[in-house]
Amino acid sequence: MAGLGLAEMSAIRLLKQPFTQQVKQLHISTVLATSDVAQDKTPKIKSVQVYRWNPETPEIKPKMQEYKVDLNTCGPMVLDVLIKIKNSEDSTLTFRRSCREGICGSCAMNIGGVNTLACISGVNTDLSKPLKIYPLPHMYVVKDLVPDMKLFYKQYASIEPWLHTNVTPANNKEHLQHTYDREKLDGLYECILCACCSTSCPSYWWNSEKYLGPAVLMQAYRWIIDSRDNATAERLDKMRDPFSVFRCHTIMNCTRTCPKGLNPGRAIARIKNLLSGVTSKEEPKAITQ
Ligand code: SF4
Ligand code: SF4
Ligand code: FES
Repeated sequence: MAGLGLAEMSAIRLLKQPFTQQVKQLHISTVLATSDVAQDKTPKIKSVQVYRWNPETPEIKPKMQEYKVDLNTCGPMVLDVLIKIKNSEDSTLTFRRSCREGICGSCAMNIGGVNTLACISGVNTDLSKPLKIYPLPHMYVVKDLVPDMKLFYKQYASIEPWLHTNVTPANNKEHLQHTYDREKLDGLYECILCACCSTSCPSYWWNSEKYLGPAVLMQAYRWIIDSRDNATAERLDKMRDPFSVFRCHTIMNCTRTCPKGLNPGRAIARIKNLLSGVTSKEEPKAITQ
């Protein structure tokens, strides 16, 4: 191996080892390399202020608790910062999370005044500005950043979010749908029920017992407009009162805040049009196989 440098010789030694040993060694060198880099970095200390409330000590009022987090030592998202605090500083800090991919909707919270998902919100690296995190507004709090979603789920169940049909599909397997009709579900089915929109809606804040709120109404519309569903009239009749839908005043906070880029405000406007007879549901397009 004359003429080879230290790096080349290490690489050859590594390649001669069994695969599992190679992986282990690569992992060790990556960790060492990363920790060298981390040591070189000047700490980036961010003030993180988090809403705290513990139901086991109800006599203690809710408060904001400050943590100092070195942004070099955790991932770039707000959820990473919360996990870092929980793992290394304060295991009592409570929040929901699951997928960390913006899919499950469980990490919805109010970050810097905006309802959004912690796992897809990057931390503002301006260290002069504190990161302020609250639970979703106008909800009862179970603990810290965990809102009580019982009413929200009850309202969701009330719209019966499943297919209502008395048609038996031709192949006895699936209800086929023309692509033209299927496209009407785009922008509706992607909702992850995170409740960011409903909890940003002033009408929902003040009338949440009677007004269904944008998230649930958008799902109601998703079933109303589905060409395979034939309970359209019943679904609309259930909402034909002054509160369920008509409490929406088209303020559009819901659409502005949706972390998935959906438009619940538009879906509500379309329900209003159907309810008031301005539009009606189209007949399903025939499918030619
Ligand atoms: S419409 Fe958007 S903000 Fe509202 S529940 Fe669905 S994903 Fe969340
Ligand atoms: S458009 Fe309707 S549902 Fe959306 S925030 Fe405004 S009042 Fe609420
Ligand atoms: S953890 Fe699932 S959406 Fe954030």
